[in-house]
Amino acid sequence: MTEPATDIERALGVDRGRLVSRLMALGEIGAIDGTTGCARLALTDEDRSGRDLVVTWMRDLGLDISIDGIGNVIATMPGFGATPPVMTGSHIDTVSTGGRYDGNLGVLGGLEVIETVIAARERGDLELARPLAVGFFTDEEGARFQPDMLGSLVYVGGMAIEDALLIEDSDGAVVGEELVRIGYAGPAPLPGPAPHAFVELHIEQGPVLEDEDITIGVVVGVQGISWTELTLNGQSCHAGTTPMRLRRDPGYVAARIATQVRELADEFGEPQVGTIGAVTLVPNLVNVVPSTATITVDLRNTDEATLQRAETKFREFVALAAEAEGVGVETRTLARFEPVDFDPRVIDIVETAANDLGLSSRRMPSGAGHDAQMFARVCPTAMIFTKSVNGISHNVTEFTEPADLEAGANVLLSTMLALARTEFV
Ligand code: GLV
Ligand code: MN
Ligand code: MN
Repeated sequence: MTEPATDIERALGVDRGRLVSRLMALGEIGAIDGTTGCARLALTDEDRSGRDLVVTWMRDLGLDISIDGIGNVIATMPGFGATPPVMTGSHIDTVSTGGRYDGNLGVLGGLEVIETVIAARERGDLELARPLAVGFFTDEEGARFQPDMLGSLVYVGGMAIEDALLIEDSDGAVVGEELVRIGYAGPAPLPGPAPHAFVELHIEQGPVLEDEDITIGVVVGVQGISWTELTLNGQSCHAGTTPMRLRRDPGYVAARIATQVRELADEFGEPQVGTIGAVTLVPNLVNVVPSTATITVDLRNTDEATLQRAETKFREFVALAAEAEGVGVETRTLARFEPVDFDPRVIDIVETAANDLGLSSRRMPSGAGHDAQMFARVCPTAMIFTKSVNGISHNVTEFTEPADLEAGANVLLSTMLALARTEFV
């Protein structure tokens, strides 16, 4: 049950200039020379500097800040006792070829909403039944430590903190040690308390909104994600002297698997997608048949049963291709999350907020993983998308027009105020 918005609430709007200038300031940390891109892999020095800047802004607003054992940072409006907040947030870690908007918009958009609401309350014209909170969650990208969405997963109790702290990156650096090193191993208990509701603002990272000239994506759910690392072990030998029939070449098997992933996605049709994102050959030399090939496979689908069928077909092909070449296979699951449906009540609230602001919108699933999909396990949750220019993301050219950033943040503002007025029964 949602109480109607007051005229004062309807008149509120975020400050576009302040939002953009914070996004640009954060984007300077880890900036990639000669581009507008950004590299702030989770728990690196750059991540620490980005965290410090955002925490400074949170402090400047007088928010209560909690840091938990996996380094999630949550800032809550003070003065509401133990009332569960309406929470928003996202991540500020990036892939190493990232942009300035993925995740960062959700965090700084949330901060912008809270600053707008605090100013209205200081003027004395806004009642609020619950506090608003904004968080950033550790290692959402999963580019350095797998699985992705690690911080929010631990926050909602989906992984024990003890296990999360032991995860290593590809160079052997350990989550727990890196958290201590950058000063973000905090005392707040895990799993964290469930918010009243959660809503995340994010760039779409795809081309649909731009293609259809629609301003707001009302996100109904997130597709399932299956990440696997395959290590293929063969026989390294001389590239000139070894006849093809006598080779056990893991590079060749990796190439066959890459082709099969594409063919499998084509055969299943949309929304199935499949990607070989990382390939490492050892020793990686022009005249040496490799001893080892390591590849990562990313399969996604909005339907769990179809995703499982794709995984089965993929595994069968890997076994056959490896056996035919006499190559051994070690398989490691890096991440596996089922598709998530968001809460219909929160979806309706987001849609109504967009309509009331006169913004065009459409319902859509998310192709990317997001922290919101973890919060959906513990409280009513949904998401808001804004356009991505050319649909490009995980790329230094990632861009969203300031007017679209503002529109998305205003939908977030209206949605959070509506959620604060909503009793979920
Ligand atoms: C996170 O960005 C993902 O890979 O979906
Ligand atoms: Mn993201
Ligand atoms: Mn991302």
